[in-house]
Amino acid sequence: MTQELMTQPKVSNFNDDPMLVRKAFAQFPSGVAVLAVDIDNEKHALVASSFMVGVSLEPCLVSVAVQKSSETWEVIKGARSLGVSIFGKGQGDLTRKLASKDRAARFEQVAIEVNESGSVFVEDAALWLECSIHDVAEAGDHWMVLLEVSKLGVGDNEPLIWHGAKFRELVDAHSIDVK
Ligand SMILES: Cc1cc2nc3c(=O)[nH]c(=O)nc-3n(C[C@H](O)[C@H](O)[C@H](O)COP(=O)(O)O)c2cc1C
Repeated sequence: MTQELMTQPKVSNFNDDPMLVRKAFAQFPSGVAVLAVDIDNEKHALVASSFMVGVSLEPCLVSVAVQKSSETWEVIKGARSLGVSIFGKGQGDLTRKLASKDRAARFEQVAIEVNESGSVFVEDAALWLECSIHDVAEAGDHWMVLLEVSKLGVGDNEPLIWHGAKFRELVDAHSIDVK
């Protein structure tokens, strides 16, 4: 028999409180990716915590939700291929730099590798993927972008974690429990 406790309801309407949606979504931890490409010797970066792997294994698909207001997306959406780097431990400042408002300054003093197809990869990341755009669907105020992975490389660095609008690091669960 299920026991019903007299507690606050688990869920409530949020229409009159848009900040609550942000707070709720921030409770879901994720990694952080940067989509980066070199077009005519200019480098472009789009940092996204909505990035997700494992959408499909065959073909190998990942996804990212891009704000419709993104100026960078308008530039990079026509690229033949995109480099994706998953930020690693200790790369919080770099993440903010690559997402800064000053688009021209994003890559100043950033260690990168550009390959023959123009994909740009960040050094010391946790994971690198070379992707092409597979499909784009409208999703409210975002574009839901499916990327097909053509090449990948697994780095040595652990991933950076984004949670509660803060950068965090992974900790083994057992090391928290054992005192
Ligand atoms: C930690 C972090 C996560 C972000 N996640 C996303 C995201 O998932 N999707 C998105 O469109 N923008 C995201 N942004 C914002 C973009 O990186 C970028 O700042 C924004 O698109 C404006 O720049 P743009 O006009 O050059 O695209 C994120 C920024 C930060 C710092």
